[in-house]
Amino acid sequence: MKQVTLIPGDGIGPEITEAVKAIFSAAGVPVVWEVENAGQTTFDTMGELIPATLLASLEKNKVALKGPITTPVGKGFKSINVQLRQMYDLYANIRPAKTIKGVSTRFDNVNLVLFRENTEGLYAGLEMWDEHHQISDSVARLTRVGCENILRAAFAYADRHQCKKVTAVHKANILKSAGALFLRIAGEIASEYPHITYEDKIIDNMCMQLVTKPEQFDVVVTTNLFGDILSDLCAGLVGGLGVVAGANIGDEMAIFEAVHGSAPDIAGKGIANPTALLQSAIMMLHHIGLKEDANRIEAALHATLANKEECTGDLGGHAGTMAFAQHIISKL
Ligand code: NAI
Repeated sequence: MKQVTLIPGDGIGPEITEAVKAIFSAAGVPVVWEVENAGQTTFDTMGELIPATLLASLEKNKVALKGPITTPVGKGFKSINVQLRQMYDLYANIRPAKTIKGVSTRFDNVNLVLFRENTEGLYAGLEMWDEHHQISDSVARLTRVGCENILRAAFAYADRHQCKKVTAVHKANILKSAGALFLRIAGEIASEYPHITYEDKIIDNMCMQLVTKPEQFDVVVTTNLFGDILSDLCAGLVGGLGVVAGANIGDEMAIFEAVHGSAPDIAGKGIANPTALLQSAIMMLHHIGLKEDANRIEAALHATLANKEECTGDLGGHAGTMAFAQHIISKL
């Protein structure tokens, strides 16, 4: 049995984690969940935003499945998600976007994987506020080691999965320091993989290309803020935030979570789509070497997604979160 830390999170988090737990249990996956939470909920009950018990569990298990955690907008505490990624140097945020049979979208042949740098850039936390002059500075710090880590992860993935092309996305025409560093290192690492086609694209053009011809992309690698935005855009290409998975990977630890947030607009209604978290859990199973369990659950998920009636409302169906999970369970 493999012990995994489970962070239910906020909003729809507890509902979708329950669905994933039910599917894993029905499938007989040899995983034991160690439940620990973080955020406003634990602050209210334990006085800690990131409880020491959560950190101890992460450091022991090295693998976690995480529900979304709410971050107050424009005030309050620093994002727990960003803090965990920085604390454990989970530098690679990997977000696959692939067309799913039966899920209706504008495109039917998207198959790309986005690598988002996860620990620095504009999310480095270097923010200054000059009250007197009403001036705000947010510094986008990139380091050679940070750029190398994410770019190496992207090229190594492309190499391992026989992907034909890596696209590095940047704004080096304007950001002549940070953007240029990222682009320079991308070129250096690309030269180590001569069998993989390498190209770079400026972020604004990239957005246009993605919404008109997404099938041209294979592996896409970019800095933190651009990756955050592009991954929601890519979610829109393949069925929305309800279906896209993600992984935060470092050299020592991995935390798997959906791309979406806590969805306060639908929280507590039992209608959230658990697919994105389930797909993240499937990525996690591959990561810990439980490939057969991953494939069996994925087959049942895809068979369910192919029947719109059995899906949740965001995909045009009428099933609630747990009813959708039961449809998956019935196909295991
Ligand atoms: P969001 O991703 O929570 O929701 C955006 C829209 O997508 C909403 O209409 C929501 O109902 C829908 N949606 C999202 N997930 C869905 C699902 N599984 N099934 C059906 N519909 C779904 O983004 P929003 O509203 O901007 O953020 C809400 C909170 O989540 C914020 O506090 C934000 O900071 C946090 N957040 C946390 C993340 C994390 O924990 N990794 C990631 C992104 C946002």
